[in-house]
Amino acid sequence: MTKALEGVRILDMTHVQSGPTCTQLLAWFGADVIKVERPGVGDATRGQLRDIEGVDSLYFTMLNHNKRSITLNTKTDKGKEIFTKLLEACDVIVENFAPGAMDRMGFSWERIQEINPRLIYASVKGFGPGPYEDCKVYENAAQCTGGAASTTGFLDGPPMVTGAQIADSGTGLHLALGIVTALYHREQSGKGQRVLAAMQDGVLNLCRVKLRDQQRLQRGPLKEYSQHGQGIPFGNATPRAGNDSGGGQPGWILKCKGWETDPDAYIYFITQAAVWGKICDAIGKPEWKEDANYATPDARLDKISQIFDTIEEWTKTMTKFEVMKICNPLGIPCGPILSMKEIAEEPSLRETGTIVEVDHPTRGKYLTVGNPIKLSDSPSDVKRSPLLGEHTNEVLSEVLGMSPTDIADAKTDGSIGDETTASTIAAQ
Ligand code: COA
Repeated sequence: MTKALEGVRILDMTHVQSGPTCTQLLAWFGADVIKVERPGVGDATRGQLRDIEGVDSLYFTMLNHNKRSITLNTKTDKGKEIFTKLLEACDVIVENFAPGAMDRMGFSWERIQEINPRLIYASVKGFGPGPYEDCKVYENAAQCTGGAASTTGFLDGPPMVTGAQIADSGTGLHLALGIVTALYHREQSGKGQRVLAAMQDGVLNLCRVKLRDQQRLQRGPLKEYSQHGQGIPFGNATPRAGNDSGGGQPGWILKCKGWETDPDAYIYFITQAAVWGKICDAIGKPEWKEDANYATPDARLDKISQIFDTIEEWTKTMTKFEVMKICNPLGIPCGPILSMKEIAEEPSLRETGTIVEVDHPTRGKYLTVGNPIKLSDSPSDVKRSPLLGEHTNEVLSEVLGMSPTDIADAKTDGSIGDETTASTIAAQ
């Protein structure tokens, strides 16, 4: 079976999380991703949050699978020459440097089009054009500027960021879609184009329902928010909604047996209208089925908190898995709060390749998240991340046809690195 993106070559100038998430996805789908790193330095995340001295961090390894790594200083004359040849040989360049870095390197979009008009030039930036376009941005800053933080957390608490990396990994996902779309378009136009995914825009796209609520708020209270039932007036902006569901079916996180000592002994419980009668029977409140105060979704809206308190008295008598076991056959949508430990140990996620164990020459075995997007005819296998400069010689000779003497010359002035340790370890 062939990989879906086999034959596509990506020049990967990305670092940290957002850009690497994008190129890792493309690599999983079979693209040849050549990661360019600074000689002797590499992607900063190789050394960040290290758990083993001198070994590439999990931060790096878990974002850079299936790629090749070369070291190249794109600021020396020789380095620029090699980089230009790589631009000629690739289909896509991806970068997430601070604004203006590619221009300062001497590779503006205009220059790139001259070098290779078919090349797609894809970037992650913090912001699109406007007052903040020159700003550097990290995950949580984008969660704040994209509307997520102001709408996350509890009403009586401060704005809150979420653990899901919606700004970095989320924008990387958006960018990957932009790249494959531009590749598809190039089939007809024969031309590359500029692809930009701004982190603020990516976060806002994921917070679309909160902008929906902002506009609904102008026409009256948001009745499905539990603050409505609690009699707390709304202000002029979409409020933080705690664990309220963002849709039309009320939901909340409820305690289960063991909650006093286990921080994850909870379940998300949705009072879907279609199964209201079954919920009433299950929790021992069959009279609510006929009671006009509870029988319809509209009648329940101002009692949502009280209803969930009653359901919680029932869920507290069982473990989250026992609640799930009862609710599932009844068609009541709910989801136990799974800890990372439980997820890491879940056999079904191993079987589908969503959680994968990978072997690494200096780290040994570690767990990672495999490709979450499954194609029926183009399965993804997860290959370990490259060591710094592990493929420099291989890529320069195979892709650019450089001779061993040319490569040795480029090493003498530091334009490419001499990471012999990396290649030696990798060869073992
Ligand atoms: N050869 C020579 N120079 C290189 C190089 C190479 N192979 N790779 C990188 N560099 C240089 C860049 O050209 C830049 O130089 P300059 O400042 O002279 O232009 C320098 O390294 C640093 O790059 P920069 O992107 O500014 O890194 P930083 O560590 O200062 O900032 C971020 C990091 C993430 C804040 C910034 O890159 C950014 O805002 N990126 C866009 C948004 C983003 O993706 N954020 C999320 C990251 S997960």
